[in-house]
Amino acid sequence: MPIQPNFLERFAFFTLNAAPTPMLDLAGALGYQALSTAVRLNLFNTLQERPSTLPELVQTLNCQERGLKHLLSALAGIGYVVAKNGRYHNTTMTEKWFTDGTMLDLNNAVTCWDAFLRDLWPHAPEVIQSGERPYNFYDYTANQPGLSHAHQQMMFGNANLNAPDVTSRVKLPAGPTRLLDVGGGHGAYTIHFCQEHPNLQATILDSAIALETAQQHVDAAGLDGRVQLQPADIWQIDWGQEYDLILLFNFIHHYDQETNVKLLHKAHAALKPGGQVAIFDQLESKQFGSAISGLLQLISLMYYLFADGRIFSRDEMRQMLGTANFSNIQFFTTPKWAGQSLVTAVK
Ligand SMILES: C[S@@+](CC[C@H](N)C(=O)[O-])C[C@H]1O[C@@H](n2cnc3c(N)ncnc32)[C@H](O)[C@@H]1O
Repeated sequence: MPIQPNFLERFAFFTLNAAPTPMLDLAGALGYQALSTAVRLNLFNTLQERPSTLPELVQTLNCQERGLKHLLSALAGIGYVVAKNGRYHNTTMTEKWFTDGTMLDLNNAVTCWDAFLRDLWPHAPEVIQSGERPYNFYDYTANQPGLSHAHQQMMFGNANLNAPDVTSRVKLPAGPTRLLDVGGGHGAYTIHFCQEHPNLQATILDSAIALETAQQHVDAAGLDGRVQLQPADIWQIDWGQEYDLILLFNFIHHYDQETNVKLLHKAHAALKPGGQVAIFDQLESKQFGSAISGLLQLISLMYYLFADGRIFSRDEMRQMLGTANFSNIQFFTTPKWAGQSLVTAVK
């Protein structure tokens, strides 16, 4: 858990500006490194199987005692583990979010974040100065063994958290039959929509490597006969026609407004009259508190650095959808979605 200043510390840091507040950002960076180290040593899964003493952990994780003790103290200091009666336990926060296998996929997330911090973020000054990127984000993930799968699995974990809520909020006319999931990656959203609407046949468009992950999930869900995986660059192919629903989930943040209007025109052309486009992405909103709003600005910077993309406001979203001839634009958000919003609009 990120360091939480107490009342007096908050007063000193934020109200009086009497203590060096940027140290809290350094703490966040160090905290991430401690977390990544623990994940790579398999500490949290080990503690989940059995709360353990330091000597037991030294043996199981094949570590030096002094180093491991330092790591455990650091993790205790930021709320990931707790020592009780001589045994270390995961905290309830660690259990809920990282070890029960249905929430965030920590192993894959750490694989991704380590790679992005190591390989992409160091280019930030040159990207900001030149506007050029010495990488293409999806070629970069595709060319590193396992990274594309880890990225898709990380997104899959996030999708499984949100999908039940998201699917129930997209109100479709009775008996929808055709769904197109643009950049659907791992397939989780398509799977949830197919489970919710028994007559739905779906197509997921994405790169061949991303669809390898989707194939595993579609097979596991027993939906092979209803979900078609179409490897393609979405800009290079005709999407087909007469869809009831087109998903653009975590996709528009790759592009600027002009390109998104082209994307939305493509979606409009592929929908049947009365069909809907659904967008799920981070959007700026006055409903968010300062922590989520600050996080969204950082994520927007990352989208710019990685893909020349960004996060949009609701007004910009309305304007892009209106320009592409969509009507009945609706926005939904809940604190559970951690800064993401659902937007639906009708052809
Ligand atoms: C951030 S992921 C989102 C995955 C999923 N829709 C979700 O919401 O979790 C974006 C996906 O778009 C795919 N993608 C990006 N550009 C693409 C393009 N030009 N053609 C096909 N797929 C693309 C990526 O491979 C990736 O799977």
